[in-house]
Amino acid sequence: MTLSISSSQLYREAIDRLNKAGIDNAQREALWIVEEALGTTRLRLLSDEEDSIDHVTYQGVISLLERRASREPLQYVLENQDFFGLSMVVNPHVLIPRPESELLVEEVIARLGSHSQPIIWDVGTGSGCLAISVAKALNNAVVIASDRSLLALQVARINAMKHGVSSRILLVVGDLLAPLLSSGLAGKVTAIIANLPYISHEEWDRLSPDVKDFEPRLALDGGPDGLDVYRRLLEEAPDVLASDGVVYMEIGLGQADPLCKVITGSKFFKVIKVQPDLQDIPRMVCVQRVGC
Ligand SMILES: C[S@@+](CC[C@H](N)C(=O)[O-])C[C@H]1O[C@@H](n2cnc3c(N)ncnc32)[C@H](O)[C@@H]1O
Repeated sequence: MTLSISSSQLYREAIDRLNKAGIDNAQREALWIVEEALGTTRLRLLSDEEDSIDHVTYQGVISLLERRASREPLQYVLENQDFFGLSMVVNPHVLIPRPESELLVEEVIARLGSHSQPIIWDVGTGSGCLAISVAKALNNAVVIASDRSLLALQVARINAMKHGVSSRILLVVGDLLAPLLSSGLAGKVTAIIANLPYISHEEWDRLSPDVKDFEPRLALDGGPDGLDVYRRLLEEAPDVLASDGVVYMEIGLGQADPLCKVITGSKFFKVIKVQPDLQDIPRMVCVQRVGC
């Protein structure tokens, strides 16, 4: 059924709905949603062209606008987020990739770019953004991507296929490093990259509703001080890593010192780098395996 509404009228309705819902960038977001849903261009939406859209399409756009009006993140509504120049499919089963996590990828590429065949394990892969970016950049790398959430791994699989690296990434489900501890990889992994949950309980209470109500708690909640999952990772990692293997961990504000303290107390690791992000927040801690 065709309606007597044109795409430019729908665009104006979209701005109005998002404005009423108090969305900050209502005009821009309305544009992105309508452009994407109608497969049209900004030029067409801003013109007076007398097209008309059908009922099903109209209802589809309205339901996307209602999701955004309820504060669901735009990336889930559009099912997309760019990361390291690659477009990643996202849905509410995975964390929306954040720009600060690109730091982990940059560091891994810088360190392992000249390695003949590194084995790199992305633990807690979510959308697969880290594993896929690393696999695209390092042609010789063997990449393993694991997650406790099977639904997240399904998204990672879609993204790996989308970017042509599915044959080079082994996807495995399971808790931290358990899935492959008993496999032939023990003692062989060159690097672990980990953006695991690191939100403390105190910080959880301060999270914005866009994050707290929509992104998966399994992806965010790192226990009382936010470091529970990293403490467990550092206990398991020595069995998996090669003798000089490294672990890259993304952390939050104020966590570099407590995490470095955990490492100082371990006989298996030394800290080799703490890297700040663009806002000068220490965002990544890199440790290297030492001892036997
Ligand atoms: C902060 S998200 C990061 C996702 C992705 N690496 C990124 O950078 O966008 C953490 C991910 O770790 C997974 N996760 C949480 N606890 C885990 C565990 N114990 N073992 C494996 N994966 C876990 C979550 O399901 C989630 O996908």
